[in-house]
Amino acid sequence: MVLFRYPRPLPSEITPKEMYLSRRSLIGGAAAFGALTTAARAAALQTHPGPYSGGLTPTPHDDVTHYNNFYEFGMDKGDPAAHSQDFHPLPWTLEITGLVRKPVRLDIDQLLHSPAIEERIYRMRCVEAWSMVIPWDGIPLASLLKDADPDPRATYVAFESVLRPSEMPGQNEGLSGIQWPYVEGLRLDEAMNPLTLLALGIYGETLPNQNGAPIRLVVPWKYGFKGIKSIQRIRLLDHEPPTTWNRLASDEYGFYANVNPQVDHPRWSQATERVIGSHSLFGATRQPTLMFNGYGEQVADLYRGMDLRKNF
Ligand code: MTE
Repeated sequence: MVLFRYPRPLPSEITPKEMYLSRRSLIGGAAAFGALTTAARAAALQTHPGPYSGGLTPTPHDDVTHYNNFYEFGMDKGDPAAHSQDFHPLPWTLEITGLVRKPVRLDIDQLLHSPAIEERIYRMRCVEAWSMVIPWDGIPLASLLKDADPDPRATYVAFESVLRPSEMPGQNEGLSGIQWPYVEGLRLDEAMNPLTLLALGIYGETLPNQNGAPIRLVVPWKYGFKGIKSIQRIRLLDHEPPTTWNRLASDEYGFYANVNPQVDHPRWSQATERVIGSHSLFGATRQPTLMFNGYGEQVADLYRGMDLRKNF
C-alpha cells in the first residue's frame, strides 16, 4: 500500500518562493539559533579543486541548507534544517562489506582528514523538477571501493542510511510510508564512475545535518533521491538491491533514475526544471533539463543499448 506519493506536494502546489521566504523570516529567531548551533559543529575541510566543476555558479548556501528532502526529519522542505539539530553525526563508522576481499571499517575522522578530499561543483536535479548547483567536498567512491578489493562476483552496490529513531523524528511517524532505514543502490560500474562521490562537506565545511552528515552519496547524472544521506553501510552484491522510492511506488521511481528530459514522470513533465535560488519577475526561473543532467560525456556509455524508457 502506498501511503503517500512522492513528492507529497505536486510541483504546481509547492509554496511560492516569496511565501516560503516570508515564512522563513517569521521563524528567523529559531533559524538564527539553528544556524548558530550548525555553525558550531561545522568544521573547515582540507579540500582542493577537483575535475568536472567548470562553469557552474553554486546556489546560495542558505538555499542549499534550507530547501532539503530528508524524510527522517519530516516531509516539508524546511523540516530537515528545523528538526535535525539533535542528530549526532559523530562518532561514526562507515562499513564496506559483502562481496569484497578486504572488508573495510572506516572511522569518519580518518575520512574527514583525508588528503583525498576534493571539491566538485555539480548540478543537482531533483525528480520533483527543481535544481541546484552544489559545491561538494568529498572522495570518489571508486577509491574506497578499490581499497575493499571487490570480488569478481560483485555487480551491484547497496547503501544504507542510519536507523536512529531517537534522533530522527520522521522514523517514528510512519507518515511517509517509508520502510526505515532509507536504502539505495547502484550498479558497480556506476559506483566506480569517476563522477560518483561520497560527500563529506559542502562549501568547504563538514556537511550540515540536513544535508546528510556526516557522509552521503552524490551521483550527479541521477535524480537527487539516489543521493542517500547519513550512510552507515555499503555492501557489494551479485544482485540488484531494493531502493526506498522504488519500494514505495515502482511505477514512478525506477532503479536507474537517470535524469532524462525525454522520459516524463507519470504525473509531470521532466523537460524543464525550476532553478532554486534564482529570481525573476515571476519567481524562480525555469531552464531546460539536460540529458544525464549534462554529464552524458562521462556516463552515456554505461547505458549503451539499454532502453531508457523501460529502465527509468
Ligand atoms: N537520504 C535519506 N536518508 N533520506 C531522505 O529522505 N532524500 C533524498 C536524498 N537522500 C533522502 C535522502 C532526496 S528525495 C533528495 S532530492 C536528496 O536527498 C536531497 O538532498 P539535499 O537535501 O541535500 O538537496
